[in-house]
Amino acid sequence: MKQAKHLPADRIFKIEPDLEKKLAALIKNKFAVDIFAENFAGSAGARRIAASVLKLSDFFIASKSDSTPWLEPWCQMAYLSYYMVLNEIRCRAVLHEAQRRPFLNGVEQVIDFGAGLGAATYSLAKVLPDSTQYVHIEKSAWAQSMHQEIFKQGRWTDLPTVPAKNSLGVFSFSLNEQETWPQWIQQFDHLMIIEPATSQQGRVLLQNRQNLLSQGFSAWAPCVHQQACPLLEKSKNDWCHDRVFFDQPEWFKAIEELLPIKNQTLTFSYLLMSKRPAPALPGLARITGDLLDEKGKSRQLICRNTDREYLTWMHKNSTPQRIPRGVLVGWPTEHEAKSNEIRVTQEIPVVDLDKATLA
Ligand SMILES: C[S@@+](CC[C@H](N)C(=O)[O-])C[C@H]1O[C@@H](n2cnc3c(N)ncnc32)[C@H](O)[C@@H]1O
Repeated sequence: MKQAKHLPADRIFKIEPDLEKKLAALIKNKFAVDIFAENFAGSAGARRIAASVLKLSDFFIASKSDSTPWLEPWCQMAYLSYYMVLNEIRCRAVLHEAQRRPFLNGVEQVIDFGAGLGAATYSLAKVLPDSTQYVHIEKSAWAQSMHQEIFKQGRWTDLPTVPAKNSLGVFSFSLNEQETWPQWIQQFDHLMIIEPATSQQGRVLLQNRQNLLSQGFSAWAPCVHQQACPLLEKSKNDWCHDRVFFDQPEWFKAIEELLPIKNQTLTFSYLLMSKRPAPALPGLARITGDLLDEKGKSRQLICRNTDREYLTWMHKNSTPQRIPRGVLVGWPTEHEAKSNEIRVTQEIPVVDLDKATLA
């Protein structure tokens, strides 16, 4: 994928140094592999980790709704050295979006369903007040104990507790392990849901967005509107997903060098929903696709309502802007609408909600 021309700094993520240190110590302690060693690249330890990552990746692809196989040493190794890092960044990216609006205001309790090693809680604890109560629902005792080794925080339960008022339900890569979405999800005041960026799982998420809207929830992100999703309604395979860039540390690069998987960019589908109505975002739209270069034109999927539309640059009179997927932009004041193309000649303003004054 061609990188966007001007990649905003807030789309580039690094591993948090304190998390990196903790994970490195655990990997050394449990598997006698030192990811910080000078000769780690190409070493037997790097090859063992890469083989584990590949095995868990194959498991996730093959399994329909099977639970993470925590008792397998290869799963433990792959999660500690790879998936925990990626999922924490995905959670942090979603939280960046949440923080651009008053979404987290008033949240007093977090219930993290399928908490695993605590990727979501780790990111949340950095942005929520210290007084926040954390409840983790995790059926694997191994994951629970490892989570406590990484950071002891909150309580652990295997029962879906009744959420308190102002509770945030967090579901990071855990709903895809359920046959169906739990009914009690409606009891939360606020929801943060992250799912794999696949057509199948992404479309289940979009269908559930529709169900949640009809149950009185409001969509805060990535949606800029409360209408039907154009990708669900007007296509059979499309799904909404975001992409951020991962500035990898050397040891992580050394693992990926041995893998067919490359995660320099991380994709994920997500929803931030709340029973509190989302303030309107007049005149704004979300970039929901990567730039597609075609003969004579370049197009990029954009979302502002229930229409499935493409920002379009005709090469004869404009140069494609390469706007990063996932950002908010101002709707072009000058354009020609042709079928589902919004043909533009002027620069599209990328909007930083942190600094924007909305009408
Ligand atoms: C893919 S992992 C994701 C872990 C973590 N949330 C993350 O983002 O890295 C899914 C987790 O959900 C847990 N899980 C799945 N179904 C569950 C259930 N019904 N009750 C509790 N935990 C569950 C699994 O044990 C596993 O730890």
